[in-house]
Amino acid sequence: MIPAAESAFAQRSSSPAALGRNLAALGQHEPIVFDEFMNAPLVLRHRDVSAALRDTATFSTRFYGMGPMSAAMIALDGPAHHGLRRVHNRFFSAAASAKYAQAVVPIARRTFAPLAAKTEVELVEESIARYPMEVFLTLLGIPDELGDQGLAWVRAIITWLGSPMDESVAAAGQQAYAQLSAYTSTLVQQERRDRGDNMLGEIIRAFEAEDAYSVESVTTAVVSLLLGGFETTIQMMSATVSSLLFNPDALARVQADGSLAEAAIDEAFRWANPTAGLYRLVMRDVELAGTALAAGSMVYLCIAAAHFDEQVYPDAGTFRLDRRGTHLGFGLGPHYCVGAPLARIEVAAALTALLDACPGLRLDPDAQPRFHYGARGFVQHGTEALPVLT
Ligand code: HEM
Repeated sequence: MIPAAESAFAQRSSSPAALGRNLAALGQHEPIVFDEFMNAPLVLRHRDVSAALRDTATFSTRFYGMGPMSAAMIALDGPAHHGLRRVHNRFFSAAASAKYAQAVVPIARRTFAPLAAKTEVELVEESIARYPMEVFLTLLGIPDELGDQGLAWVRAIITWLGSPMDESVAAAGQQAYAQLSAYTSTLVQQERRDRGDNMLGEIIRAFEAEDAYSVESVTTAVVSLLLGGFETTIQMMSATVSSLLFNPDALARVQADGSLAEAAIDEAFRWANPTAGLYRLVMRDVELAGTALAAGSMVYLCIAAAHFDEQVYPDAGTFRLDRRGTHLGFGLGPHYCVGAPLARIEVAAALTALLDACPGLRLDPDAQPRFHYGARGFVQHGTEALPVLT
């Protein structure tokens, strides 16, 4: 019998590290507890979370395919996943990523430079949330005429995927998915006729090189990238900034030495946990951490708790710039985030641009930041509001 615990997920908190700290404390007594809000047993210790992430035959990602994403890479296992992953690795190669980096830096500057003229701002919605879509539109060569429509489609779909049982958001989400797919499919066909030197061209070339090109396969991949790389990047960026604001000594070090940005991003991934955890579908009766799990049930591999496991991260509550990035925030094993190189480029460019624009960046003492990890279906969550003085 798995013990039950009061959910730490349903509550808002005023520190980005609260969730991980509280869940790891629970993990010191029980390796697995049932969480009513997440509606699944939470696996709390680093060793068990890592083992389950690696064993995709037993702990499967197939459930992601129950919505509109049945052909998406994240929902596939074994050889089908492996083949598609090989295609993706081509357009996220080091050479391709270096090209994307050149395009991303000016977008970051454009997005964050206007903050220099403000004195107070809520960073997440007013600034960070617009950035990843801008990056995708530019990298994919999507015309300006799309305006805010792309953002609206992606948000409607993500809202639906996050709450698949909520009929009030399903119709809008399904319609947005159909519209985004139709728009992307036209774009793919145009790009194939009239090739440009952008990321969409790289994607098409990669599918062709692996003999896997079809309009549908490229469209599904592009839509998956838009869905997989949007809220995630917003939350990773928000987690990085909030971690530094809560740890002013680290912020001062990063401001004085820009080469510490990467270390700050990695430690923020651990400390503030934008990837709170990952669901898995249990494929066979199995024992994990001495607990019996039944075939067909779901588990939540709680990365936030694993990130505060003292066995792996001594002095886990302390934000440190010298831990050398061993976090699980991009996942682990076969489904390790394929977009990680682009994500790192995006967040590092954004952090540099933000700190350049706002050398006096600090929390607004008259307004509360808000953190909330309760969006059930999402991979990424955390910072709801980050009011700052610039
Ligand atoms: C910026 C922050 C990002 C974070 C924190 C993040 C996190 C993750 C995580 C945790 C997984 C594993 C999911 C699982 O095992 O269930 C994953 C997979 C994936 N991510 Fe990311 N991601 C980010 C950015 C991106 C970007 C920018 C893209 C696309 C351009 C992307 C595309 C994907 C795809 C396609 C997968 C599935 C990989 C596979 O199944 O082999 N992600 N991501």
